[in-house]
Amino acid sequence: MSAPATPDLEVRAAVKRFAEHTAVDALSFSVARGSFFSILGPSGCGKTTLLRMIAGFIQPDDGDILIGGNSMKGVGPNRRPVNMVFQQLALFPMMSVGENVAFGLARRGVARAERTRKADAMLERVGLAGAARKKVDELSGGQRQRVAIARSLVLEPTLLLLDEPLGALDLKLREHMKIELKQLQAAFGTTFVYITHDQSEALVLSDHVGVMNRGRFEQLGTPQQLYYEPATPFVAGFVGANNRIAGTALAVNGGRVTVRTADGWTLEARASSPVAGGAAVEAFVRPEVAMLARTAAELPAGQATHSGEVESLLFDGANSAVLLRESSTKFEFRIALPQTGQYADLKVGERIHFGFDPERATCFPAGDRHG
Ligand SMILES: Nc1ncnc2c1ncn2[C@@H]1O[C@H](COP(=O)(O)OP(=O)(O)OP(=O)(O)O)[C@@H](O)[C@H]1O
Ligand SMILES: [Mg+2]
Repeated sequence: MSAPATPDLEVRAAVKRFAEHTAVDALSFSVARGSFFSILGPSGCGKTTLLRMIAGFIQPDDGDILIGGNSMKGVGPNRRPVNMVFQQLALFPMMSVGENVAFGLARRGVARAERTRKADAMLERVGLAGAARKKVDELSGGQRQRVAIARSLVLEPTLLLLDEPLGALDLKLREHMKIELKQLQAAFGTTFVYITHDQSEALVLSDHVGVMNRGRFEQLGTPQQLYYEPATPFVAGFVGANNRIAGTALAVNGGRVTVRTADGWTLEARASSPVAGGAAVEAFVRPEVAMLARTAAELPAGQATHSGEVESLLFDGANSAVLLRESSTKFEFRIALPQTGQYADLKVGERIHFGFDPERATCFPAGDRHG
């Protein structure tokens, strides 16, 4: 058996403070060679600060950052084997596309013929063959972003750091570029560290995701782990759509909690971390886990049945959903509409039953942070 490969990136208890505010709070993780790693978190949680420390633009107050197994203490940004793609891409408008891509090579002293050859080859690989002589402002937003990525990849970095690179693009183009980015990363095999506050981007693109909140990771896992086994209420609420129900644990039976809300709705869920009887809890039920039924008898045996009144119908093709007001409490509850057309004639104001498998609903102590 071969020894495990040195991770391309290792962050060891890195800390960054700005006056009283700790932007990055003793964060540790590593990123395996050739993988697509995302950092997902809300605005202000410290994502850019973390990336700037990895790139070397700012120094950690404590801890260490290793790239390819080497400590980066005292190593300036232009001596690190990393490159960064920014949200507001910084292409040079006065230069041609080809000159933009060749810029870093020129700075490294690569001869003109060689730079042109490399830049042309890179433009071809990102689907912009023949665009070398164009001006930057002749390109669309998506094409410009591809130029920015080509300009970084041509330098063959160990790590490519991307700070919300699709943020400036419209929705349709984002969707398209998302797929392109994933294909580019797979084709080049370069390790990507990708920042986003968009959970669907992180899920689609990544091998692993660190969910960041207030300078720390709440959970680090595969997209499937984050979605199906969220470790904290924050992750359950941030990754994917979820109905969040606050209450107290009326009874705890093995891994099963009976939750009662302040308004008196009772439901069951699986305890994702230990819950004490009487404790304040938060339960989460995903819209696609809940099932609609015209009569309570249609729901599978073992599911508690609930009922509600249709408040609104949200048609969105494959993601269509219905918002219900749960009968006893008026709690607003979202349920995915099945694609069978069975509920195509559902009307606002109609009374309907619903249920869910308690094993697929999760429950945490309220305010639980580390699971
Ligand atoms: N140079 C600085 N001086 C003082 N405070 C800073 C500085 N840079 C960042 N901060 C603070 O650190 C925190 C984290 O900022 P950061 O830019 O890392 O957030 P972010 O997760 O990238 O947010 P966004 O998604 O909005 O880009 C914020 O509260 C911010 O105000
Ligand atoms: Mg940022």
